[in-house]
Amino acid sequence: PRSIWLSRHGESEFNLSGKIGGDANISERGQLYARALPDLVASSVGDDRRLTIWTSTLKRTIQTARFLAASPKGYDKLEWKALDELDSGVCDGLTYQEIADQYPEDFKARDDDKYNYRYRGGESYRDVVIRLEPIIMELERSENIIIVTHQAVLRCIYAYYMNVPQEQSPWMEVPLHTLIKLTPRAYSTEEQRFDANI
Ligand code: F6P
Repeated sequence: PRSIWLSRHGESEFNLSGKIGGDANISERGQLYARALPDLVASSVGDDRRLTIWTSTLKRTIQTARFLAASPKGYDKLEWKALDELDSGVCDGLTYQEIADQYPEDFKARDDDKYNYRYRGGESYRDVVIRLEPIIMELERSENIIIVTHQAVLRCIYAYYMNVPQEQSPWMEVPLHTLIKLTPRAYSTEEQRFDANI
């Protein structure tokens, strides 16, 4: 059966300061994850299959995949704009506290309907699900793909494969520094998680 591998980028400088969006570098801890990723992936693949790496166009995913791309197996790499993080528009670069202070109505609207709430000048989860359609189609035609991308994007891809209604995407648990291996079967998807303990 075909599996797909999913990972968030390693911890970023913005993750550390609680800011959303942006195009920050990964932190020192994020670097440790990037260095651990080749072994983590190798242990979860279980044979000498070559994976193809898909990242977003943002630095933190490319930096996270760097050692994997350079590993002896020499994985191919592709950058997709459609895998960039949910666009938080005018709230890009703010902390949740700053959003609550500066845009209290938006903060409440998002809390009331996180799936449909669209950031001013940005996107909603629903928008992300729609822009991921070509990615999902390509994924279904491909084999041996590892996707290194962002929290909101991964939640949508994860919900899709786990047959969870897309409306529940915003609440999927996709932690940092954890490799997720999904293997679709006839009636359900088998899931394995590999925690890098970083
Ligand atoms: O904080 C990391 C992050 O990827 C942000 O860039 C993004 O806006 C957020 O998570 C998405 O999570 P939530 O939808 O829960 O705010």
